[in-house]
Amino acid sequence: MPRLPWVIKYRPKRVDDVVNQNEAKAVTLKWIKSWVAGNPIKKAALFNGPPGCGKTSLVEALANEFGYELVEMNASDYRRATDIERIAKVAATQRGLTGRGKLILLDEVDGLSRLADEGAIQAILDLIKITKNPVVMTANNAWEQKLKPIRDASLIVNFRRLTKTDVKRVLRRICELEGILCEEDAINFIAERAEGDLRSAINDLEAVAEGFGKVTLKVCKAVLRYRDRVYAPYEVVRKIFISKYAWQARQAASQTDLSPDELMQWINENLPLQITDPEDLWRAYEKLSRADVFFGRIVRSGSWDLLPYAIELMTAGVALSIINDPRARYKWIRYQFPQKILLMSRTKEMRQLRERIAENIGRRILASKRKVKNDVLPYVKIIFDRNLEYAARLAAGLNLDEHMIKYLSPQNAAVISKMAAEIWEETAKEALKKHTESARKAEEDIKPPEKRHETEISSNTAEKKTRKRRKKKEVKGKGLDAFFKK
Ligand SMILES: Nc1ncnc2c1ncn2[C@@H]1O[C@H](COP(=O)(O)OP(=O)(O)OP(=O)(O)O)[C@@H](O)[C@H]1O
Ligand SMILES: [Mg+2]
Repeated sequence: MPRLPWVIKYRPKRVDDVVNQNEAKAVTLKWIKSWVAGNPIKKAALFNGPPGCGKTSLVEALANEFGYELVEMNASDYRRATDIERIAKVAATQRGLTGRGKLILLDEVDGLSRLADEGAIQAILDLIKITKNPVVMTANNAWEQKLKPIRDASLIVNFRRLTKTDVKRVLRRICELEGILCEEDAINFIAERAEGDLRSAINDLEAVAEGFGKVTLKVCKAVLRYRDRVYAPYEVVRKIFISKYAWQARQAASQTDLSPDELMQWINENLPLQITDPEDLWRAYEKLSRADVFFGRIVRSGSWDLLPYAIELMTAGVALSIINDPRARYKWIRYQFPQKILLMSRTKEMRQLRERIAENIGRRILASKRKVKNDVLPYVKIIFDRNLEYAARLAAGLNLDEHMIKYLSPQNAAVISKMAAEIWEETAKEALKKHTESARKAEEDIKPPEKRHETEISSNTAEKKTRKRRKKKEVKGKGLDAFFKK
């Protein structure tokens, strides 16, 4: 059996399992009992509240507890007359003596206002009029103007945003049941970000736990940095693949803070997992590759006005390529982190190091970083592997730090670093000596001339000459200047 995602595995089975929402639960229980008694207060209830606070969960728990068969319809189905008719037919049918009652769920009716679909709203109103079974609708914002007729025909049940304490309690319980080690700080971090959206909190927890086996603050920060009150990448990818209409895919793509090319990597990585029909796959790749061509042009020529086409192709284009096997859309896939991004982030430090080395060398030899990386670095690496003394002098002269030396030759890094440090020390000593000497000389020069004897002066100049000669010799012998002069 495929592993269930945790949001489904830990969905409340009974009304009592729904955390918080006491008022909503009380109102709903009263309403459903009035249906059971055969004298409904109102035919339909409209559950209103923020995402992931338990609206759909409560409907499912109710159906479970009161023995109703749940008949669902989602926002994307409302446009199809046949779907509404199907639901209406079910709604209008009275429960037989033996059959189970039906609970009709019209999920996310506020999706309708986006479609501006008056026809669908009228169809729902008709359905409420004729129904012989309880109807529940859910919405994130029931107060939209378009929904007024539906509001007037329903019992409005308001759900609260879950508190951080609620979210943390559920997360802790899941960790316990899964036998996963988790840090309190990490739970706090996830709950904080979720802002009352338990669905996203559970998804985050699962993403961290499954990749890393335990939930620590450090891992949370690394894995979840992408999410900032927008959907996590894997949720966006799911939303794109599941889209039946272009606007849904487009909207999903806007709910992420991935950059467009990162999003393309996510789609690229997961496309062959989601779509398996060869012809669908071919169509999808065709769209994706065209998006890639646009991206290439954008990068090369800076024509950002092409961006909408690229995004349209990789989102709506890919989603609408699923024709032969529409069920593939709903297949539960454990989405993969794009290998390319993973590789880039793993090698990021290395690449930065390489850049810095190239910059140091380039400045010295007056060449571009690119030229240094292509033409010089390979040879420098060979020197660092073969000729330690030369390497050390280069390291000192080019001002390479320990990390850079390690990059150039991991096995010789320790020795080269030590030798380079010695060269540095020697050079520093040399410079100090030079400095004190010239300071002394300057002091001598400003001494009043009348105090000096002729002989003294001549011996002084002789001494100066020999000192100069000695210095020249020393410079020739060691130190950086000598090396670079050579
Ligand atoms: N109050 C709650 N008690 C227990 N679990 C909850 C609660 N709210 C949310 N969850 C968990 O989060 C998941 C998503 O919740 P649910 O589908 O009920 O959200 P929703 O309110 O319908 O959100 P949306 O408006 O986005 O559809 C559930 O499967 C469940 O695991
Ligand atoms: Mg819901």
